[in-house]
Amino acid sequence: MHFWSSTVGKKVVMAVSGLIMVGFVILHMAGNLQLIEGSAKLNTYSAFLHGPANELLWIVRVVLLLALVAHVVSAYQLTVLDRAARPVPYAKRDLQAATIGSRTMRIGGIVLALFIVLHILHFTTLTLQPAALTEGDVYGNVIASFQLWWVTAIYVVAMIFLGLHLYHGAWSSVRTLGFERGRLDPFKRPVAIALALVVWGGFTLVPVAVYFHLVP
Ligand code: HEM
Repeated sequence: MHFWSSTVGKKVVMAVSGLIMVGFVILHMAGNLQLIEGSAKLNTYSAFLHGPANELLWIVRVVLLLALVAHVVSAYQLTVLDRAARPVPYAKRDLQAATIGSRTMRIGGIVLALFIVLHILHFTTLTLQPAALTEGDVYGNVIASFQLWWVTAIYVVAMIFLGLHLYHGAWSSVRTLGFERGRLDPFKRPVAIALALVVWGGFTLVPVAVYFHLVP
């Protein structure tokens, strides 16, 4: 409790839970790219992940849900403490090392939380397009969904927020955990930039390629 009640403790919880989700998005993005190889490949992969009774999936779901709750609660509490520490805003702000990533962390986090809810209602429970989507046919569901320009647009915009969130989060989490020091220059963060670009590009490729009929 002493650890959690300190701001450093909350930052560590935020960093560790964030890194767990980074691991998931890298695997999920790589898994999605199997769509390029056609329906058999993607649906076999999905069947493997689901297994006979969703055992593996439930372990992943529980770990991700715990990570997400820890991440959101620590971010919220740090924001409240941050605002309480400076109730009167600065008259003039001269940002030294801020990036579009660092400045959009809170709004981006809210957008991503909404996206995750929408995404689960879309592809997992199939609630949003019940007539067009079929349980077990992940390939068919992805193809059917991204024929619609606005569904494609929602995913493309959400992935921009994900890329920006990762760019700042990946870098600041390793600093919080003490694995990296110095290097405040936001353009000298090669690993964070590469990670954000690969995850953003890999995810974005799927809806865009389907929308423009570039997949088999
Ligand atoms: C263009 C981007 C994305 C596409 C096309 C996509 C596609 C999909 C599809 C088709 C499924 C269902 C897979 C199956 O049932 O076998 C799925 C599941 C899932 N996706 Fe995504 N996804 C995207 C981005 C994301 C992102 C950014 C996150 C998290 C930050 C995410 C989190 C999840 C989770 C947690 C599940 C599993 C839900 C469950 O079964 O409980 N996805 N995704």
